Amino acid sequence: MVYTGAITVAAAALLAALPVSASLYSKSSPVIQIDAKNYDRLIAQSNYTSIVEFYAPWCGHCKNLQPAYEKAAKNLAGLAKVAAVDCDEDSNKPLCGQFGVQGFPTLKIIKPGSKPGKPIVEDYQGPRTAKGIVDAVVDKIPNHVKRVDDKTLEGWLAESNETAKAILFTDKGKTSALLKSIAIDFKGSIYVAQIRNTDKEKASLELFGITKFPTLILLPGGKEAEGIVYDGEMKKEAMVAFLSQAAAPNPDPAPAKVKLQKSKDAKKPKPKDSTKSADPASATEEVLEEEATESPSPEVDTEKPVVLPEPAPPIDILDSEKELHIVCLGAKTGTCILVLLPNSPDEVGAAAVGSFSEVAHRHRLHNRKLFPFYVLPEKNGGFTQLKGALSLGDGLQIIAVNGRRGWWKKLPTDGTISAKDVTEEAIENWVDAIRLGEGTKEKMPEGLIPEEVEEPVVEDQIPVEEPIVVEEVKVEETKAEEPTASPEPHDEL
Ligand SMILES: *[C@@H]1O[C@H](CO)[C@@H](O)[C@H](O)[C@H]1NC(C)=O
Ligand SMILES: *[C@@H]1O[C@H](CO)[C@@H](O)[C@H](O)[C@H]1NC(C)=O
Repeated sequence: MVYTGAITVAAAALLAALPVSASLYSKSSPVIQIDAKNYDRLIAQSNYTSIVEFYAPWCGHCKNLQPAYEKAAKNLAGLAKVAAVDCDEDSNKPLCGQFGVQGFPTLKIIKPGSKPGKPIVEDYQGPRTAKGIVDAVVDKIPNHVKRVDDKTLEGWLAESNETAKAILFTDKGKTSALLKSIAIDFKGSIYVAQIRNTDKEKASLELFGITKFPTLILLPGGKEAEGIVYDGEMKKEAMVAFLSQAAAPNPDPAPAKVKLQKSKDAKKPKPKDSTKSADPASATEEVLEEEATESPSPEVDTEKPVVLPEPAPPIDILDSEKELHIVCLGAKTGTCILVLLPNSPDEVGAAAVGSFSEVAHRHRLHNRKLFPFYVLPEKNGGFTQLKGALSLGDGLQIIAVNGRRGWWKKLPTDGTISAKDVTEEAIENWVDAIRLGEGTKEKMPEGLIPEEVEEPVVEDQIPVEEPIVVEEVKVEETKAEEPTASPEPHDEL
């Protein structure tokens, strides 16, 4: 190509113009970027195990690690947190210092301890490969799953008989990372057990009439008489949505203390039942070892009086019809939600956008994949076109569409959309229902989706509805493993 030379020079000039300490991980990276301010909330207070990379953007070994680390983050999505701290940032230096970071990159596995906010920190010194990292972190996922057999089932069911319980009947002896992660999501609200399909558990299998494996059942009232059988796929999001009918999963990170929401619909924090005793942790076989060092308490920023919530960035606005067809109404686009927002929207419209923004933000913080939400403003030509084609009424309309499968559905309301239809909870429930494929779907009318769309970019850009977690963590290495006999190289500080 004739222009290659010129382009390369231009690109080089562009790169040179960038600030030297641009962060190693982009905004869209699956690696969570943490700093001195949010370390406590995102990592130390979490019920999940994390791995944290302490790095400097200029460090060559850190750059070499980046692809493997991002791959590990993808493979661990929903199971553990993969985070990074830029130790070159002045404000992060005390945090890096408190962790005793002496070279880059330094990797530490941070596992919840027996007290909230007091995690157990261990160095990770294994191979700097995605597989090495994933295996080590999976090994440290807290296990709140009780293994139950015929002898212990009755006792377990009688334990806190008001608390919802979930039981996985499985052919496997080992507790999967997936089930452990589910027990973490519902820690304190649903007790999770696993029963293996062997001769020692025959009575338990009969009690629940279990004939196929794996089978998940939910006992919302904690008693065996009320079991609900899960018939979806053994994928995390769908299983969590199923269990959510008994209790909401713990928000992680926990909601910040101060809410700057002035809307009258402001969500009250969910009441925490502090009287709930019998922490399921006490029923697990795994004892949290204290042999590792306690976390330093990196309360660094002493000037900061209140913890402000991380505001949810608003969902994207589709400015043009073309954009609408590329991201949401194409022949190959997966599920997406459109908030058809009229000019000068009222409070309900604003609340709807706020709720979708919150839900999307929460999923991002959890590294959970979710189909996208967009605002389709009245000034976009697609607004009137869609309203006509789908015979939608005046004013605010909220729909989910799937171009590839040719269906659409409306946010359920009793007539027109009102404030109660667009609370965060209502939106979250609707999104979950779509994810589970529940509810009726309308067939998309002919001609709404352009047939000829052949844009190769689309497939990559559109997060299709694809559950994030597989039961077994699989890691395909593309890179040859680095030699691991000698200690990993560091760039000295
Ligand atoms: C539940 O537990 C309470 C107290 O531990 C007991 O009084 C009650 O009978 C139990 N209910 C059932 C259905 O087992
Ligand atoms: C951690 O688990 C406890 C129950 O033991 C729960 O109350 C809390 O909300 C969870 N925290 C997070 C951040 O998920």
